[in-house]
Amino acid sequence: MQVNRVVLGDNLDLMHTLPNECCHLIYADPPFNSNRKVANRSRPDFCFDDRHDGGSAAYLQFLRPRLSEMKRLLTPTGVLYVHLDWRTVHYVKVMLDGLFGPENFLNEIIWHYRSGGRPGRWFPRKHDTILLYAKHVGRHFYKPLRGESYRTRDLLYDEEGRPYKTTRKGRLYFSAEGAPVTDVWDIPFLSTVSSERVAYPTQKPEALLERIIEASSRKGDVVADFFCGSGTTLVVAKRLGRRYLGCDGNSKAVDLARQRLKCAPCHDDIEREPGQST
Ligand SMILES: C[S@@+](CC[C@H](N)C(=O)[O-])C[C@H]1O[C@@H](n2cnc3c(N)ncnc32)[C@H](O)[C@@H]1O
Repeated sequence: MQVNRVVLGDNLDLMHTLPNECCHLIYADPPFNSNRKVANRSRPDFCFDDRHDGGSAAYLQFLRPRLSEMKRLLTPTGVLYVHLDWRTVHYVKVMLDGLFGPENFLNEIIWHYRSGGRPGRWFPRKHDTILLYAKHVGRHFYKPLRGESYRTRDLLYDEEGRPYKTTRKGRLYFSAEGAPVTDVWDIPFLSTVSSERVAYPTQKPEALLERIIEASSRKGDVVADFFCGSGTTLVVAKRLGRRYLGCDGNSKAVDLARQRLKCAPCHDDIEREPGQST
């Protein structure tokens, strides 16, 4: 399979041409069924249509064959992340349980952020949900991550800078690498002045994709994003030494993604790790 490319077109057509079990990690960030044309004020020409004739039923009919193809494309150790919000996540969870089997459901990740409006009639909606499924639970690749701050009062540091707390039994040491990353992720949304920003609507922060790619793939693995938009997943995959495959139906998005990839640093050590399948 040809990798390190971004394809313009309907992702279902592309996926139909790909062989079984060719992707180690797939991240899907489809339109959220917001029933509008999604655009930023600063670049109205960067936009995509998120209206579906037939409402939610039509939206789900659009997603189903695509998610099913993604399952076919995953390697036996592969995983799929599906990024959604309050509008459809519960329906898509049921659909994915049907496609993957509920036993292969691994996590409901809450991406929490603070930016955006504050409506007066309900709690401000400040999270997206990312569903994580394994092709085969138990065979899937997962690297636990650390780096969160400890929510412990009275944290002290010894002479070597190692964090600990004093207890009646003596010092209780914490890992110097930080607390484990859990299924609630506090990662800021891209601000309007962020240097990462390319003005593509719903562009995701690189920090979010870094976490996903580091936890669920190894160097040299194939990371695919069939709703790649401005190419955030692909840029991070390239930087972290993964092979990548992207697709978008919007030519402006594909141009942007290719442009970003041209400027993205390349990890030159992309040897496969011992014992890793191709
Ligand atoms: C939520 S955006 C992705 C944003 C991306 N994660 C980023 O960081 O820029 C969803 C993308 O899916 C694309 N899309 C929608 N339907 C598609 C289809 N059938 N085939 C390929 N791309 C599609 C849209 O053009 C849009 O760019």
